[in-house]
Amino acid sequence: MPTATIQASPSTVTERLARLQNRTARIGVIGLGYVGLPLSLLLADAGFQVTGFDIDKRKVDDLQAGRSYIFRIPAEEIQQALTQGLSATTDFAGLSQQDAIILCVPTPLTGHREPDLSYVENTARAVAPWLQEGQLVVLESTTYPGTTEDVMIPILESGNANGLKAHTNGAEDTGTSFYVAFSPEREDPGNTDVARRDIPKVVGGHDNTATELAATLYEGIFTRAVRVSTTRAAEMTKLLENIYRCVNIALVNELKVLSLRMGIDIWEVIDAAATKPFGFHAFYPGPGLGGHCIPIDPFYLSWKAKEYDFNTRFIELAGEVNEAMPEFVVQQVARALNTQKKPVNGSRILMLGMSYKKNIDDLRESPSLTIIELLRHEGAEVLYNDPYHPTVGRGRHYNLNMTSTPLENLGQYDCVLIVTDHSDYDYEQIVRESKLVVDSRNATKGISAPHIVRC
Ligand SMILES: NC(=O)c1ccc[n+]([C@@H]2O[C@H](COP(=O)([O-])OP(=O)(O)OC[C@H]3O[C@@H](n4cnc5c(N)ncnc54)[C@H](O)[C@@H]3O)[C@@H](O)[C@H]2O)c1
Repeated sequence: MPTATIQASPSTVTERLARLQNRTARIGVIGLGYVGLPLSLLLADAGFQVTGFDIDKRKVDDLQAGRSYIFRIPAEEIQQALTQGLSATTDFAGLSQQDAIILCVPTPLTGHREPDLSYVENTARAVAPWLQEGQLVVLESTTYPGTTEDVMIPILESGNANGLKAHTNGAEDTGTSFYVAFSPEREDPGNTDVARRDIPKVVGGHDNTATELAATLYEGIFTRAVRVSTTRAAEMTKLLENIYRCVNIALVNELKVLSLRMGIDIWEVIDAAATKPFGFHAFYPGPGLGGHCIPIDPFYLSWKAKEYDFNTRFIELAGEVNEAMPEFVVQQVARALNTQKKPVNGSRILMLGMSYKKNIDDLRESPSLTIIELLRHEGAEVLYNDPYHPTVGRGRHYNLNMTSTPLENLGQYDCVLIVTDHSDYDYEQIVRESKLVVDSRNATKGISAPHIVRC
């Protein structure tokens, strides 16, 4: 897409654009979690003056003291960023000094599986009083199309005392405009194959100037910015990516269940199909979806679609198939124990891996949590091991209060259940020492033993 012409260019915008280009701009990042913290580090490393804002005082204190609270981010990276000008605060007054403000706050679902935009709304309310002319505000939180324009902008406009308005294409600039864009986060936690800066950044502005300002900002830290015509297109892009993933995972999960009945190794089939050099992208079955994105984001769209009298059937069906997977794994454990003349009730089961995917420390929406609950409900005694989670306490949907059990004496368990295929595990040894292994990830690929049950 050709670079859009900037329609309104008061000196403040021109100056801010220049500062973004030569990386002397001040950037405020709101929400210092899995998305906001790595983004702040990238920006600081590129030379921007970065201030992180969060309502969580512990995070702010940790950062100011050079400590990390995200497993894959070493403390040294934070200490380095502090020397490069990164700072963190709970005081939002500093927002008025920023050239650009990026919002990276949560967008979960409510108990009724509807979008919970309260974090975005509260953050917009907190930003509005500090807004300045010519400032750029970018929303990165995953959400349904229309959130930036129908939810965030009205709050920003009504909450600032100076009467500032989000600039639109063709509107005369009277020196009372700020600029708004949406740019989805595309990080793949634990993926070490693609450097974060090589993941192109999609940007859609409320007007052409906002698109240019945001694209220029991200071109300072990413190899490429991809400009789309509207904030809605940018919001929808992120949802398409995640729905594509969710639907394809559901497809292989369904085919896995069928293949098991037919005595076919679905993982062998996927690997064979993946040798096709075009038209096939491999997705793998597993014990269920996890993480902040794939289990949640599609429902943002299905909720919004209802406003248009539209049923997103693929999303609903994929949700149904994927949500049945933890239950399926528990059934397979029961069947495997049955072959050993053991009921689930009273069995000792060691679950390997709590994270929702391998080699990361993220527990959010992890199927392991549901599997523990289901097994306990059937009367099993469940212990777990996970090098990334020495303890598991309380979350939004669970209160386990468990401690990771050392990987010793595996023969004492009636079943060792692999839920997350962390690379740290020695699967040969696990199979050798266990009485029964139920493997929901094909982690024991290449190992052959009669007491392995793959599901
Ligand atoms: N985690 C991922 O890999 C990932 C990937 C792509 C997109 N996303 C999306 O990015 C967004 C952020 O996700 P995350 O994983 O970083 O969440 P997170 O929970 O790790 O971090 C969010 C941070 O926002 C802070 N916060 C909440 N309300 C605030 C407020 N009013 N003011 C200031 N700070 C506030 C929280 O204290 C927390 O530190 C979500 O919309 C998510 O869907 C996440």
